[in-house]
Amino acid sequence: MRLVSQLFQVGLFLGMATVLHAQTDLGVASYTEADQLFFPERTDLWVHMGSSLGSEYGDEPFDPANPGAIGVVQMEPSAYQYFLENHEYADGTMYLLSFYGSEAESDPQLPGFVQGALNAQEIHVIDNSRFSEGRGFFLFPADATTTSTSDKIPDGSDCVECHMAEGEYDGTFSQFYPTIREITGN
Ligand code: HEC
Repeated sequence: MRLVSQLFQVGLFLGMATVLHAQTDLGVASYTEADQLFFPERTDLWVHMGSSLGSEYGDEPFDPANPGAIGVVQMEPSAYQYFLENHEYADGTMYLLSFYGSEAESDPQLPGFVQGALNAQEIHVIDNSRFSEGRGFFLFPADATTTSTSDKIPDGSDCVECHMAEGEYDGTFSQFYPTIREITGN
């Protein structure tokens, strides 16, 4: 009887371990057999994290008359939900950075700038079990669809270097995302 109960407890524990593991792997990111990332579905429904103006990578000084791109950062919704509940990123967490032109010719004319055409998209997947660097960075064109695929930028890239050195939380620029920095405290 005792043995049966112990076996039951072990079974229960293993079952729980499986559930816990499943919870930390979101399973939303989809890859080809050659480990290329498919452009995700319905990124229009992703959660807005932050926006920037003229923050392109380069040494050009900021020019107020011609401020450059508007960068919009979004997070995949189930990843955001997991982060809110656990205060850490699950494996498979995806962030999207979309670059839009900044347009001054809005109608009615307002003094500032609005989002123009989408020019390029970048995805940061955080996944310690899939990637040796704990993350993968991928580039997609503006017209990417769910059948578009992208190779991971090879290990040792500038992307990983800058993100790990300057991003405040787990290689991400949480310091610029108000709802995230409220939780991570930076
Ligand atoms: C010199 C530093 C630097 C380099 C190099 C860099 N990034 Fe970033 N990245 C940033 C900053 C700063 C942000 C914050 C958002 C913004 O300001 O537009 C950011 C945000 C992002 C985000 C939004 C999610 C996050 O992690 O915060 C993605 C996706 C991204 N970068 C992709 C890339 C890719 C792909 C590369 C390489 C091709 C790259 N980055 C290289 C500085 C860098």
